[in-house]
Amino acid sequence: MSLTRTFLPMLGHTRGNRDAATCHFKCGNACAKDVCNTSTNTYFRDIADTALSRRSILGIGAAASAALVIGVDTRSAPVAHADTIIAPNGGSKLRFTAIAPVPRNRDAMTVPEGYDWAPIIRWGDPLFNHAPKFNIAKQSAKRQAGQFGYNNDYLNVIVDKYSGRSGVLVANHEYTNEDLMFDPQWFEANKAEAARIAMAAHGFSVVEVKRAKSGGPWSYIRGGERNRRITATTVFAIDGPAAGSALLQTTSDPTGRKVLGTLNNCAGGTTPWGTVLSGEENFNQYFRGTGSATDARYGIADEATERGWEDVDARFSARNPGYKNEANRFGWIVEIDPQNPDSVPVKHTALGRFKHEGANVRIADDKRVVAYSGDDERFDYVYKFVSAKKYRRGDRRHNMTLLSAGDLYVARFSGNSPAPEIDGSAAVPADGSFDGTGTWLPLVKDGASMIQGMSVEEVLIYTRLAGDKAGATKMDRPEDVEPSPVTGKLYIALTNNTQRNTAGKASVDEANPRTRNRDGHVIELTERNNDATATEFSWNILLVAGDPATDKSTYFSGYPKEKVSPISCPDNLAFDSKGNLWISTDGQPGTIGYCDALHKVTLNGEERGKVEQFLAVPAGAETCGPLVHDRDGSVFVSVQHPGEGGTFNEPISFFPDYVKTAGKTKRGEVYGPRPSVVQVFTDTKGRGSRK
Ligand code: FEO
Ligand code: CA
Ligand code: CA
Repeated sequence: MSLTRTFLPMLGHTRGNRDAATCHFKCGNACAKDVCNTSTNTYFRDIADTALSRRSILGIGAAASAALVIGVDTRSAPVAHADTIIAPNGGSKLRFTAIAPVPRNRDAMTVPEGYDWAPIIRWGDPLFNHAPKFNIAKQSAKRQAGQFGYNNDYLNVIVDKYSGRSGVLVANHEYTNEDLMFDPQWFEANKAEAARIAMAAHGFSVVEVKRAKSGGPWSYIRGGERNRRITATTVFAIDGPAAGSALLQTTSDPTGRKVLGTLNNCAGGTTPWGTVLSGEENFNQYFRGTGSATDARYGIADEATERGWEDVDARFSARNPGYKNEANRFGWIVEIDPQNPDSVPVKHTALGRFKHEGANVRIADDKRVVAYSGDDERFDYVYKFVSAKKYRRGDRRHNMTLLSAGDLYVARFSGNSPAPEIDGSAAVPADGSFDGTGTWLPLVKDGASMIQGMSVEEVLIYTRLAGDKAGATKMDRPEDVEPSPVTGKLYIALTNNTQRNTAGKASVDEANPRTRNRDGHVIELTERNNDATATEFSWNILLVAGDPATDKSTYFSGYPKEKVSPISCPDNLAFDSKGNLWISTDGQPGTIGYCDALHKVTLNGEERGKVEQFLAVPAGAETCGPLVHDRDGSVFVSVQHPGEGGTFNEPISFFPDYVKTAGKTKRGEVYGPRPSVVQVFTDTKGRGSRK
């Protein structure tokens, strides 16, 4: 069995903002390929006299203050997790002076004055007592399956309710970079084992953590009771309306209800009942497809993959008898229970199949739950799911069935300014804002398909095509779509789309107002009457990203541009207990020339739109999984793909240990770029950043 891939096949492939290696390994060079959405689905410009007024959409005296999200009813609920708990005003310990943006090649983790940072866990750290310590010269699939995986993205630290000093850290592992993981000579001689190691480095890690005192640094517990690795070969159950469909059956699984593994898990969310959701994003790159139109809409081609996993495991090629449907079994939102290492994780077909960035849940006033999700591809869509059943506080078993049945919608945005004012320059229209109304268009409602010519199963498995037919608005790569736990307003990170308004592609519209949108933007969406189940909404653009010092098309809700930190390629979102928005970036080095960052954005009051940079990650890395425990004085980030663009023998980063013997072993350990979870905490000794 031979793998065809050689080292550095990505050179010359990139056309986006990222390093060539990131394009290659993370997304399978999606930017260099044709746009997947070739539908003629066009933008419907709002006509003021036919639209609901902004006032009626917003509602007066709406249940804005009603219970939105009411804490996590797990036996180990977090005590200060701003993702899921409404916090009282005050209590934030995160006072900081914005750091200056960091030049893109600087190999340092940079935090504000008065803060320090430390890695909690790194690629290869052993989770179990039987798992060996990491040694880059002695890798195997078996070893990797007992160690922390590669390229951690989504992150949560779920603090145990009655302890406050224990909890579980949950991270997913999006993809692997073989150029950094393996000695090239070893790789050439061991490609099949390298592929199996990569499979074991994907998925999830759940690991127990402890700390000596509230606010102090966390450390992980090797051999913790709840520790778990989920990989590309872990058994998942498929549930929901499409479970068992003929379109999900393979020769290994004639039931269409059991699939091995989860792939390319990007962002995610923690539910109010304490489970973790994660999106299977650029899953297409792992599969040799059938050449069908439906495969093409997902970017799956009948071509040998660069990863070559089809040479190791037959299911990764539709050419192998019995596996033409294997790729249909990926592209879902998965739900795992981090409190029970024996639980079977689930893929939820009710939420549709696309390149899910992640999913975030809000509980509606009537106790149905709503899950929002973006499809991260140029010109793809924003979705929401509304459960059929209602949330029951304290009934965890019941709540874990909520994402199994319900209605699925896709968003259509309408602007309220005249078309000539949306000219691609991102100049603010005469009414003072990019804004308007919108509709959640039903794809599945009350168990029935709302799309002519498509069954429910087809709508859920080929959701992108259903969105095309429904007339959804083509967006500039929706990443995190996350409701504020304080106000219920929804924030949509649109990371970039350099093909917007170019020849043959969708033109600008008020919700995507910039030609060749290199730096991205963020939309704020308010459901009608602040009812999460509403089918109508209003929206406005919170910020049009970029470096205001050099880019006139930037916009910060009217906040003075000279007072903001430059920001580009917004990706993951989080909130602190006061409802400030935190935005991590993925692509700043290639756009505005700075290392990727974590920024705080004020949403309310006179400083609305103020962007303040909190940290910068090292050369080659993107900032992921931000988690703000402000009442603890802590911020956590996943530092993903540090040193990307370098190689095993010529590293450009030595994060997080900064012992400059990368690629070598020392006392059985390796030092060099290792994707890691980092905690940034208040440094009571005032040492500031240590690197
Ligand atoms: Fe994995 Fe959409 O970023
Ligand atoms: Ca407007
Ligand atoms: Ca992302």
